Amino acid sequence: MSKAVCFMTKNFGKYDVKSIGSYMAIGGFNALKKAVNMTGEEIASTLATAKIKGRGGAGYDMGKKWSQAKSVIADNKVVVCNADEGEPCTFKDRTLIEHDPFNLIEGMIIAGYTVDAQNGYIYLREEYSHLRPLILDAIKQAKTYGFLGENILGKGFNYNIHLYSGAGAYVCGEGTALVESIEGKSGRPRMKPPFIKQCGLYNLPTCVNNVESLSLVSSILLDDEKKYLTYGTEGSVGTKLVSVGGNVKNPGVFEIPFGVTVRDIVYGLAGGIVDDNEIKLIQFGGASGKIATKSILDTPYTYEDLRKDGVGVGSGAILVVDERTSVIDFLRTTQEFFSHESCGQCTPCREGNRHIKLLLKKVAESTHTTADLASMRKIAKIMAMSSLCGLGETAQSALVSAMKNFEEAFQIK
Ligand SMILES: Cc1cc2nc3c(=O)[nH]c(=O)nc-3n(C[C@H](O)[C@H](O)[C@H](O)COP(=O)(O)O)c2cc1C
Ligand code: SF4
Repeated sequence: MSKAVCFMTKNFGKYDVKSIGSYMAIGGFNALKKAVNMTGEEIASTLATAKIKGRGGAGYDMGKKWSQAKSVIADNKVVVCNADEGEPCTFKDRTLIEHDPFNLIEGMIIAGYTVDAQNGYIYLREEYSHLRPLILDAIKQAKTYGFLGENILGKGFNYNIHLYSGAGAYVCGEGTALVESIEGKSGRPRMKPPFIKQCGLYNLPTCVNNVESLSLVSSILLDDEKKYLTYGTEGSVGTKLVSVGGNVKNPGVFEIPFGVTVRDIVYGLAGGIVDDNEIKLIQFGGASGKIATKSILDTPYTYEDLRKDGVGVGSGAILVVDERTSVIDFLRTTQEFFSHESCGQCTPCREGNRHIKLLLKKVAESTHTTADLASMRKIAKIMAMSSLCGLGETAQSALVSAMKNFEEAFQIK
């Protein structure tokens, strides 16, 4: 029996994504109409009750973020929709934009209303440029129907949405690098503080949310029967989009209730492993995520259970690698990615990635020593503790978890 559910994906295939009229015919913009009769605090508290954790990877409490953004005192604020989706094996945001673009626009307008913003910005990864016409047209239609622009729904609320594209850098998904990029500068993370919630895009208070987080808002506001709360577990309420890739028979995006097992996802929804091969490893949350052995298959997919087993939800990516790939080859590919994507601004990340790359080559050639393994551990620790941004902090997550869970791969011969 399929374990997939349809809460945030309930509109998929139900309307013509190029027509606002078609979206409105299935209840589109009813959430906004409801929202403008609530206070920003009430909306933030509704999200807090649903215990939504942001879906971009860090899992920050969404109700709290909106409540904090609302409480910042400023004449001008902005909302940013992070559609950079650069984390390898993560492709759920693309699916949400392709199948339900108006729902994202509606979520962004509600975000603007809640936090008192005048402008919203969608930052779309360069590789998704084929989606630009769809989004631009949705924005245009929303404006024509009075859901964007001046005095929205007669409530004196003025708000517009703008679309910006990145140029293909993974680090631009990090909030401060993203705002630098929109400002036309090179996409490198800023020193913090100040935090972008106080001083972000164009030095204005900025509320950044992931596409999936924003896509949940309308359904939550219209969920009078609290159906969302019936999904999931006590610690991980609701549903989540997971993107499953790698050596599975049926890769794709699935909406699951938290609490189904990893096996339900990998063997049920994703159809099992190609040629019925054995699983070598599973990586959770993208290239910055940790890796586990197949012993994790019976773990429930929840924030708390995955954490207990040494991995995490992260972006919702699940990358399954079968027996044909060695752990060290896998780590070298991941390391290539980080060495290429490091922006080079701070020493621990720039130099650490280079050193680990060289040391992994030695491991692959079986010429490494005990001192090399100790160096790898030490560099990984320094990077996690002293890098300027999340890229350097998490670049060695896969390596560190592999040294723990796949000790045999590092044996000295
Ligand atoms: C290197 C790096 C890349 C990131 N890439 C993305 C991304 O592509 N999409 C995203 O939503 N968040 C990404 N994040 C997380 C964002 O910084 C931020 O936490 C998120 O967009 C906030 O939205 P949320 O609270 O709705 O999750 C990235 C973080 C780092 C450090
Ligand atoms: S951690 Fe890496 S990506 Fe982040 S600022 Fe430093 S060099 Fe750039």
